[in-house]
Amino acid sequence: MTGNKKGQRLLIVSNRLPLKLTRERSGTWRLDRGSGGLVTALAPVLRNRGGVWIGWPGIPQEKAPPNLGELLDRAGRDLGYRIAPVGLSRREQRLFYEGFSNEVIWPLFHELPTLANFDPTYWLAYHQVNRKYAEAIAAESQPDYFVWVHDYQLMLVAQELRALGVNSYVAFFLHIPFPPLDVFLKIPWRLEILNALLQFDLLGVQTARDRRNLLDCFRALMPDVKWHGRGRVVVGQVNDRFVRIGDFPISIDYRSFVRRAGSKEVLAVRDGIRKTLANCKILLGVDRLDYTKGIPHRLQAFREALREYPDLVGKTTLIQVVVPSRTGVPQYRRLRAEIERLVGTINGEFTKPGWVPIHYIFRSLAPDELLGYYRAADVALITPLKDGMNLIAKEYCVTNVDNDGVLILSEFAGAASQLQHGAILVNPFHVQQVASAIHQACTMPITERKRRMKKLRQSIRKQDIFWWVDSFLRSAIAKDLSEFPQLDE
Ligand code: G6P
Repeated sequence: MTGNKKGQRLLIVSNRLPLKLTRERSGTWRLDRGSGGLVTALAPVLRNRGGVWIGWPGIPQEKAPPNLGELLDRAGRDLGYRIAPVGLSRREQRLFYEGFSNEVIWPLFHELPTLANFDPTYWLAYHQVNRKYAEAIAAESQPDYFVWVHDYQLMLVAQELRALGVNSYVAFFLHIPFPPLDVFLKIPWRLEILNALLQFDLLGVQTARDRRNLLDCFRALMPDVKWHGRGRVVVGQVNDRFVRIGDFPISIDYRSFVRRAGSKEVLAVRDGIRKTLANCKILLGVDRLDYTKGIPHRLQAFREALREYPDLVGKTTLIQVVVPSRTGVPQYRRLRAEIERLVGTINGEFTKPGWVPIHYIFRSLAPDELLGYYRAADVALITPLKDGMNLIAKEYCVTNVDNDGVLILSEFAGAASQLQHGAILVNPFHVQQVASAIHQACTMPITERKRRMKKLRQSIRKQDIFWWVDSFLRSAIAKDLSEFPQLDE
């Protein structure tokens, strides 16, 4: 089955809709557009071809406003494509979203299996909710639709669609890492998951390593499937069907970030921060509150840098922004307490009149505010223990229009394979190494900073979010392996 014919209508499916539903003090409900890269990239394609976006509005069904359908129809008319909600009850939210998605798949796929809670009721709910999404797709879909499913919450959707008799082309993109075989083997439902993944026509992952891991799992657990090709996209034969697997590193809207970086709102935020922290090198960390982001390790590395390199004391400030996330999952609540204790301890050890080493922000920043922080920062400290891609790294570089910032990046972020030539790559578990990278970044001559940053920005410009959508969609129509778009390594 070949997908994505020219002009074919698109049906995008993600756990969350690209809209944010909030209740105002007055009691009225408001729908705001999401601002993420995925929406930016897919919205024009959806508008051009016509299509639908299916997903969860983000609040339990019991709490949803009675006129939600009407609100979404109106939002869809403004956006130029249909919005179709999938309602989740409070129980489904707990067992499917917080439970299986975020207490089983999330830690396991980030190679932290000891944090996984293999509760069998979670698996049942995951299966049922994936069926619910499939039913919503079946209700919207026509036979010639190109269905594109996103992320780890929805790995069973193609299988459920096939069971409902839907034979459209169904593609999948995994935004998080795919783990190595010996980690994947730990999951009690490993065969069920692999079988379900084989029901997609195209499986996209972020990096070559993820692709190799996925193939290793298929080869070890499903030896009957024969794989062809050695390049970026390989093809497997499953009875009379074919499934393609390829790596497609997601990116950002380069031009829009460059344009916004120069706006007066962004410059005002930058200037305000620089004025307050005058004479200090500013290090910046921005993360969702998540144990995969390595925030405690990073704080320890910053403490080590202050202990080891006295020239940094009084002259370097770390701004750590933590965006609240998944508050219903116990691991996340514990992590917040751990981070706040460490920030307190380090500030207690080093603060002196006129200088506080860590500025800690626990809330989400408005888009212009965030860009202002990027522009103010001399160094971005992005050190996840494991990350699918990490778009903050790309956003920081692209916003750095003066080319004078430095990116310290974990070798375990998907972005590292693309950004290795300009970033200082570190092992986030090696506290002394990260401390030394902090010192290197803070003392790096301007010529070297410019040389590195130009390289980084150039590589993101070449492979931006539109390149990502295009190369994914083209891989669905390519007739043979030689036609697959190649990566610029
Ligand atoms: C990661 C995942 C996304 C998810 C996002 C926010 O980037 O890959 O699928 O939407 O985190 O997490 P949340 O649980 O709030 O949707």
